Amino acid sequence: ELAELVEAGIALEAWPREWFSVHDNIRRPGAIFTTSFAEGEALAAARALGPEAVLAELEVSGLRGRGGAGFRTAQKWRFCRESEGDARYIVCNADEGEPGTFKDRVLLTRLPDALFEGMTIAGLAVGAHRGLLYLRAEYEYLRPLLEAVLVRRRDAGLLGADALGTGEGFDIAIHMGAGAYICGEESALIESLEGKRGQARVRPPFPVKRGYVQKPTVVNNVQTFIQAAQIALRGGAWFAAQGTEKSPGSVVLSVSGDVARRGIHEYPFGVTLGEVLAGCGAYAVKAVQVGGPSGHLVGPADFRRRIAFEDLATTGSLMVFDTSRDIVAVVQNFIHFFEHESCGFCTPCRVGTTMLRRLVDRVAAGQASEADLAEIVATSLVTRSASHCGLGQSAPLSLLDALQRFRADFDTKLSGQGSDPGFDLDGALA
Ligand code: NAI
Repeated sequence: ELAELVEAGIALEAWPREWFSVHDNIRRPGAIFTTSFAEGEALAAARALGPEAVLAELEVSGLRGRGGAGFRTAQKWRFCRESEGDARYIVCNADEGEPGTFKDRVLLTRLPDALFEGMTIAGLAVGAHRGLLYLRAEYEYLRPLLEAVLVRRRDAGLLGADALGTGEGFDIAIHMGAGAYICGEESALIESLEGKRGQARVRPPFPVKRGYVQKPTVVNNVQTFIQAAQIALRGGAWFAAQGTEKSPGSVVLSVSGDVARRGIHEYPFGVTLGEVLAGCGAYAVKAVQVGGPSGHLVGPADFRRRIAFEDLATTGSLMVFDTSRDIVAVVQNFIHFFEHESCGFCTPCRVGTTMLRRLVDRVAAGQASEADLAEIVATSLVTRSASHCGLGQSAPLSLLDALQRFRADFDTKLSGQGSDPGFDLDGALA
């Protein structure tokens, strides 16, 4: 019945209300933007707790990384604390390069003190004395604001010689990216920080063991540090009270595309995709790209799925496409992006993304046959499984989803020329 409403172009607002619960949003008490604290307040709480108790609160909170993968923050920080090394580093990944994702830009603008406080608390918890903020090149305009906050925090004794309150110091420097999507991958980011070409390292060893200048390093997303500071102040139980058991807390979504209310929307983890779409004023939805082009393209059959690491996993974005959109054009745009951003280091990604871009261009131009669709699937599977890092591994995902869920958009463009080479398209897609 959901699919019928979508096909008929019925506005989401007109869908049966029992499918949705009234959601609370960004103004809700406990939401990341409303959990404000005075400058230095969370750090003072962390100093009073000490490293072990900070880690214990993080464990209770169940906080999982907000960059996308959802690795447990307490575990990451503990691994770093326990790794051998004469120096440790805290790195904030503010290289938010995923198209359609802009939550970190808003957090950097609205809560810079909370971010630096979280990084300092991470320093206290793992025994690091230096933090590095890797800022996306396109966010250069934010740098003066962030530098001013750093100066103010040094003046207030919240950074500098006795920042950790035990006679031990901590300070933060800002490092600008140069516009490469690959530098959002943590090990490529570290290479870039070291002044080298942004290219992903082989992991393991993970950065907690050998990161910046081969020393134990915590790399976390902007939001993760802010929420860690809020947890140090309010306690792990406060944080774990919302969300699901496996995905505690809230999800901050960047919503764009065919919706009435585009922007940042915060929901407790466990909210259904349909609830979010209704809350944002989406109508006649055909498809949603969850987590940006490197994530998954879903359709109405998925609207009752829950946004949580254990179901529809994303911490980033929803790009909404209504029934007027051509899905081939959508994935064509994505594959052009990946071909452009492939770093060129490994053959499966460098050649795979180029082959896929050419094939999809051919479909879009009405010059492709069934055999080309089979070729897209075969090339996607190799690129996904053989690429060196997450970029190539995720580049074909939306294409495969599109072929599985929106095959009709491809079929109407086939020229009828060429023969099926015997490749079992439906079998491969299954
Ligand atoms: P991953 O699962 O390999 O690692 C996640 C984090 O956990 C990393 O910091 C890693 O160092 C750590 N980790 C994992 N296993 C570990 C172990 N055994 N010991 C110690 N640390 C360990 O995921 P990856 O490749 O780092 O990131 C993929 C995610 O990035 C995806 O979810 C994707 O959606 C997201 N992404 C986000 C973008 C953005 O702009 N925010 C852009 C592109 C992708």
